Amino acid sequence: MLEALRGLGYTTASALADVIDNGISAGASNIHVRFDWAGERSKISILDDGRGMSDSELESAMTLGARNPLEERSATDLGRFGMGLKTASFSQCRRLTVVSKMLNEQASCLRWDLDAIAAAPDLGWLMFEGPANGSEASIASMSSVTSGTLVLWECLDRIVTPGYSLDHFADLIDDVEMRLSMVFHRLIEGPNPSLQLFINDQKLSPWDPFMIGHPAKPWHSPVAKILAIEVQCHVLPHKDRLTEEQFRKAGGPEGWTSQQGFYVYRNRRLLLAGGWLGLGQGRAWNREESHRLARIRLDIPNTADADWKIDVKKSTARPPVTVRAWLTKLAEDTRGRARRVFAFRGASVPVSAGPPLEQAWRVERLKDGVRYRIDNGHPAVAAVIEAVGARADLVRAMLRVVEETVPVQRIWLDTAENKETPRTDFEGEPNAAVIEVASVFFNDLRNRKGLSVEEARKSMLRTVPFQKYPALVAKLGGSE
Ligand SMILES: Nc1ncnc2c1ncn2[C@@H]1O[C@H](COP(=O)(O)OP(=O)(O)O)[C@@H](O)[C@H]1O
Ligand SMILES: [Mg+2]
Repeated sequence: MLEALRGLGYTTASALADVIDNGISAGASNIHVRFDWAGERSKISILDDGRGMSDSELESAMTLGARNPLEERSATDLGRFGMGLKTASFSQCRRLTVVSKMLNEQASCLRWDLDAIAAAPDLGWLMFEGPANGSEASIASMSSVTSGTLVLWECLDRIVTPGYSLDHFADLIDDVEMRLSMVFHRLIEGPNPSLQLFINDQKLSPWDPFMIGHPAKPWHSPVAKILAIEVQCHVLPHKDRLTEEQFRKAGGPEGWTSQQGFYVYRNRRLLLAGGWLGLGQGRAWNREESHRLARIRLDIPNTADADWKIDVKKSTARPPVTVRAWLTKLAEDTRGRARRVFAFRGASVPVSAGPPLEQAWRVERLKDGVRYRIDNGHPAVAAVIEAVGARADLVRAMLRVVEETVPVQRIWLDTAENKETPRTDFEGEPNAAVIEVASVFFNDLRNRKGLSVEEARKSMLRTVPFQKYPALVAKLGGSE
């Protein structure tokens, strides 16, 4: 059974998070995770300064299922199944040693060793007292706490596999760091956090999925509550409004597209980072590029574990039917807002009031797909057709060639690969290219059509893409 339980599917980071949870539930304010590279003899340990366990408590903590998942737990308890310590540890190692000490008490130490159990099947559930021979030094850090617990993983057969090197180990530490700073960000953030987390003596800084306080953040909702659940919806700033470093960091461990959606917290500990919880209109929503700026914080209490189908790894949760419709509505609204910010690159969304804009492109929806056509009615196009008079057929022929050769497939591929629509000169602040085109067009309106400066400016403000540059348009034609 112990061998079977190793395959629950923990990652190193999620296994560590589960052990850290125990320290937090035990009231720890400092937790140290240590990675020790020594090839096949590498070790990982987790030391907390919580209240610790007595002899008999430690014995039951080492037992599988010593606690009933149905029993009520204190509101701050992060545990549930009475399994985590064992299942998380064995997913990574074959030897688990736990030392624990309560204030003014002697420390106790117990150890599971899967190799010893496998070697002597007739001896049953063989549990040892004290650390393994030669591992005494690895539990010495217990002396630095007045009370607390040390969990030591040795024989890391699921991590240190053939060919595994120090570089891999270093990458693993980076990954763990990123994930733990996400999972526990609410417990370690703020000026006086309730918890400090260290990895190899480096203090972990929080990763806030919602970029709270960022000046370019377009929107967040007020906090909504229903049935002890709390929800707050956020739309994050568009890439154009972030520095490269901010953009990379905000993408989180999985990247922008994966990190969209719901962030489910249980007692402020993150269970689920992104995804749409199987919600959707008709079909369940996927994580799409266009909604990547949407992130929703959802807080559930630990009394709702059964309703939300929390799993042993604490990595999934399913909303109960009673709140699905409500959540779907909130998510739909947030997704719509996020999509608009994404599409308009964080610029304010054009209002629909006033006369319709003169578009340069028309989208024609046909039975077998979509077609893009240049609109001959666009003033820039109409001006040329009119100006060339009898040779308008040449211009029309040219437009047809352009329309027929728009590299739709290519644009689509580039967009999918770079996760961004191609950027043109006519984005952001007006530059030389914009000013030049705008001036040519403005002069044509003045000279050929005989419009007054005021009329020409008005006409330009109704024409794509010049409507995006009211300040520039206002300057055209001098100070008349
Ligand atoms: N670091 C720790 N400090 C104090 N008590 C602990 C610690 N780790 C485990 N325990 C005790 O052992 C029990 C079993 O832990 P675990 O197997 O993780 O299951 P769960 O957290 O779901 O109860 C916990 O409920 C707790 O009473
Ligand atoms: Mg636990």
